Amino acid sequence: MRLTYTAALGAWLVGSAYGDPDSNGKYWIYGEGIKAAFIPYGASISDLIVNDKNGVPRDIVMGFDKASSYETDESHPHLGSVPGRYANRIKNSTFEIDGEVFKVTPNENPTPEYPQGLNTLHGGADGWDWRNFTVVSHTNSSITFSIVDPDGKEGFPGEVVSFITYSLGNLTWDAKIIAVATTKKTPIMLTSHTYWNLDGFANDETDLVFNHTFYMPYSTERVDVDNILIPTGDILTNEKGSVNDFWSAPKQIGKSFSDPEIHGNCGFNCTGYDNCWIVNRPSAHDWRAADNYVASIWSDWSGIKLDIYSDQDAFQMYSCNFQDGTFPLKSAQGRPGGPRTVPKYGCVVLEVQDWIDGINHPEWGRLDKQVFGPGSDPYVLQVSHKFSLVE
Ligand SMILES: *[C@@H]1O[C@H](CO)[C@@H](O)[C@H](O)[C@H]1NC(C)=O
Ligand SMILES: *[C@@H]1O[C@H](CO)[C@@H](O)[C@H](O)[C@H]1NC(C)=O
Ligand SMILES: *[C@@H]1O[C@H](CO)[C@@H](O)[C@H](O)[C@H]1NC(C)=O
Ligand SMILES: *[C@@H]1O[C@H](CO)[C@@H](O)[C@H](O)[C@H]1NC(C)=O
Ligand SMILES: *[C@@H]1O[C@H](CO)[C@@H](O)[C@H](O)[C@H]1NC(C)=O
Ligand SMILES: *[C@@H]1O[C@H](CO)[C@@H](O)[C@H](O)[C@H]1NC(C)=O
Repeated sequence: MRLTYTAALGAWLVGSAYGDPDSNGKYWIYGEGIKAAFIPYGASISDLIVNDKNGVPRDIVMGFDKASSYETDESHPHLGSVPGRYANRIKNSTFEIDGEVFKVTPNENPTPEYPQGLNTLHGGADGWDWRNFTVVSHTNSSITFSIVDPDGKEGFPGEVVSFITYSLGNLTWDAKIIAVATTKKTPIMLTSHTYWNLDGFANDETDLVFNHTFYMPYSTERVDVDNILIPTGDILTNEKGSVNDFWSAPKQIGKSFSDPEIHGNCGFNCTGYDNCWIVNRPSAHDWRAADNYVASIWSDWSGIKLDIYSDQDAFQMYSCNFQDGTFPLKSAQGRPGGPRTVPKYGCVVLEVQDWIDGINHPEWGRLDKQVFGPGSDPYVLQVSHKFSLVE
């Protein structure tokens, strides 16, 4: 049994402790044909292992061998974490609630005039994924983390208490995230920021994810952004056959890299993807129902296929444009004689979330999904990752 004092709730939480972390500081959980490890820092997933089409176990997420490395790594790519309390970017580090203007910590795009930055990324310089969460429960198949984010931290109004439960089933990884604004109205938008390579970085024909096939059947539109990836307010159509069309048919991630439009697609002088696609579904849609995935991705080399089901209305895909060949693989990843680091375009981040910077665009009608207070519903995010093998 595990007892954890949670000040915000004024109570001791009683959880079942299924084993301590391993010698690397990781908490392992198990399902049918799948196992995964998590760490308190950022409530991050560090390992996810399934068999490929030849029965070889592959660890298909980026991470470090040791939990302690997450804090010392200077690149801090929000690896497998839950960024919070507001994921992605906030324009001018500013938002307004009920006529009151709030300024949060800027931490991206510094200029001589604004040395801290022009905007806020992933909740600020000490956002959730820079902090240790508390393990409140750990069983053979699930782990629950909690965080209490104090009033005023990073400039955000009010306290937020959040619980994140990860569980494994029959070739499934589910995450359920709830967050409660206990004292004041505040923006909340969360996600799981996991870096994938469905070949476990072991593909002997290519080190890149360009041959991963990607499909977002509902994403006929995307959020328009400026050259530092701040939404302009416009919603753009993804024309059939264009760079950002992954809806009309499944397409390899590298397929459109010969199209000139891919240059600048992810910001100034950036070639690739770091975009927020809208998930356009009928309101009566059952997100859990078979084949109602918001995104599907697979690699023919490993045969590993991932279908992502979620209640969220947007989807960010990032093609690792800023990996520079220095980030290390874990010891069980890669292939004999192959590279031991992740190259540019060697991974892909898949994030279920809401419409980015919706707090600064009331005209989008997202405020009910992004601003929470003591009198409102809690923030809820659900995502289910289902793994299978392609022929
Ligand atoms: C943990 O779960 C796995 C997968 O469901 C199962 O094979 C294993 O027997 C379980 N271990 C214990 C100790 O319950
Ligand atoms: C940025 O926000 C500040 C208040 O935080 C405001 O005074 C300023 O006008 C804003 N700048 C732009 C370009 O919107
Ligand atoms: C997180 O926990 C680890 C292990 O207890 C500790 O070494 C580290 O200083 C903590 N980090 C933060 C940011 O609290
Ligand atoms: C897992 O799912 C597969 C196919 O969906 C099924 O055949 C198998 O019996 C399931 N395994 C368990 C232990 O439930
Ligand atoms: C990658 O896909 C292309 C087709 O788009 C194919 O020509 C090529 O052989 C594939 N390479 C690997 C290594 O699978
Ligand atoms: C644009 O990117 C290329 C390749 O990454 C780099 O060599 C070049 O210096 C960049 N140009 C500018 C103006 O930043």
